Amino acid sequence: MSLPERIVLVGPMGAGKSTIGRLLARELGYHFIDSDRLIEERCGADIPWIFDVEGEDGFRTRESNILEELSHEKGAVIATGGGAVMRQANHECLRRNALIVYLKTSVEQQYDRTRRDRNRPLLQHDDPKSILDDLFAHRDPLYSQLADIVMMTDRKSPRLVVRQLMNRL
Ligand code: S3P
Repeated sequence: MSLPERIVLVGPMGAGKSTIGRLLARELGYHFIDSDRLIEERCGADIPWIFDVEGEDGFRTRESNILEELSHEKGAVIATGGGAVMRQANHECLRRNALIVYLKTSVEQQYDRTRRDRNRPLLQHDDPKSILDDLFAHRDPLYSQLADIVMMTDRKSPRLVVRQLMNRL
């Protein structure tokens, strides 16, 4: 069995991309990269600050640049931000030598896992659930179309998701 050079995790906020990605990387002996954390490191500021000062568009440009850079990684599991699929031009970078895994998660679970988090500017809203609903309606087809593997994460521990993924690689 030959493993893909890169495993790219896509899916909505609260899907568990970072937790699952870190565990999966350890299991495979790959390194783990979280694209959002890398954006923050490079910018020297957190995501809410980037959204405040540069707007969502500024953030998306930084995200596209990082995804292009990460498309040349080898032996890596990469967790992407929920909006990484929003720019069509990112799709080629995401796909490059990669197996793409869509961590599919119901809006209820997304909401439960993100409700106490202040680090996601798109959810700083009176009704974050309706935002998650709209994002899901719009993005689910994009995640599905890109994915080689679709893995449900609802009511599963990260360890169980990783075990199920290992069986499908
Ligand atoms: C976003 C998701 C976030 C982060 C940013 C925008 C989105 O990442 O990139 O707040 O558009 O869905 P997570 O999916 O890791 O929360």
